[in-house]
Amino acid sequence: MELREKYGRNALVAGASEGIGAAFADYLGSSGMDLILVARRLEPLKNLAGSLKNKYNVGVTCIPCDLSESNSIELLKAELNGMEVDVLVYNAALSFIGPFIKNKVEDHLRQLRLNIITPLEMLHVFGEKMLASGQGAVILMTSLSGFQGSGNLSVYAATKAFARIIGESLWYEWKNKGVDVIACCAGATATPGYINSRPETMGWLNPRVQTPEEVVCECFKYLGKQPSFISGRGNRIASFFMQKVLTRKMAVSIMGDTTRKIYRIRD
Ligand SMILES: NC(=O)c1ccc[n+]([C@@H]2O[C@H](COP(=O)([O-])OP(=O)(O)OC[C@H]3O[C@@H](n4cnc5c(N)ncnc54)[C@H](OP(=O)(O)O)[C@@H]3O)[C@@H](O)[C@H]2O)c1
Repeated sequence: MELREKYGRNALVAGASEGIGAAFADYLGSSGMDLILVARRLEPLKNLAGSLKNKYNVGVTCIPCDLSESNSIELLKAELNGMEVDVLVYNAALSFIGPFIKNKVEDHLRQLRLNIITPLEMLHVFGEKMLASGQGAVILMTSLSGFQGSGNLSVYAATKAFARIIGESLWYEWKNKGVDVIACCAGATATPGYINSRPETMGWLNPRVQTPEEVVCECFKYLGKQPSFISGRGNRIASFFMQKVLTRKMAVSIMGDTTRKIYRIRD
């Protein structure tokens, strides 16, 4: 069944201007959904909107909004002006790499607002309407770093654990009410954010870096069928090894050591 027929007319992508978010917007547009694109920078949103309108002949609304601000949900509601959100993709995230103590507490708090508080508020506002209408879908982007302690990514990893757990929990609560929820656990994906972080390659230790389009395609394969999934075969094998074969101590140590090497971190 077409996404629009199954879930409704409008899809909001939070963090839509590039990378995985832009790939979600493209996929949803290709299935005939009207799009609401949200990110801080208006220019890249407008460029994407122009190309999606041309390609798919769908309606596109751009909303520039910093989702790490405490009033962002109010601003968003005002901009939407009653427009329904039938599919919510929460993709925006912030990660500060490095020792917990060396990053400012304000930066940690900003990560919590962008990665936890705002998506929670959106889930409540838009989820309530989806449940009332008996149809809708929610996709929460999360990460393999959220499966265990991840030194030098500590707060980011903890926020990603939150995204997975709330996604899986709401999958259970909403599964018989017409609303599909899924937590999409990505591994390394070639987005501008990932490329700009200039990660070192780790040879055989690192699964293949996926494209944003691969992650998004897999996500729609599993939406409605599973509470969460890990994208990419290599990531699934690595995760199986980390979670089911190694001890917790080994898994946390490997994750921390790998992150230190990839980002050339010295204590
Ligand atoms: N790339 C990876 O390797 C990887 C791996 C695992 C999980 N993930 C997850 O996948 C998601 C997307 O990652 P990505 O690499 O595509 O990220 P990205 O390239 O950094 O893009 C993030 C998007 O979010 C927007 N954004 C960032 N801060 C925002 C804010 N404060 N308010 C509103 N919008 C904001 C950005 O646009 P503006 O700058 O214009 O705001 C951009 O459109 C994240 O949730 C991440 O945790 C990524």
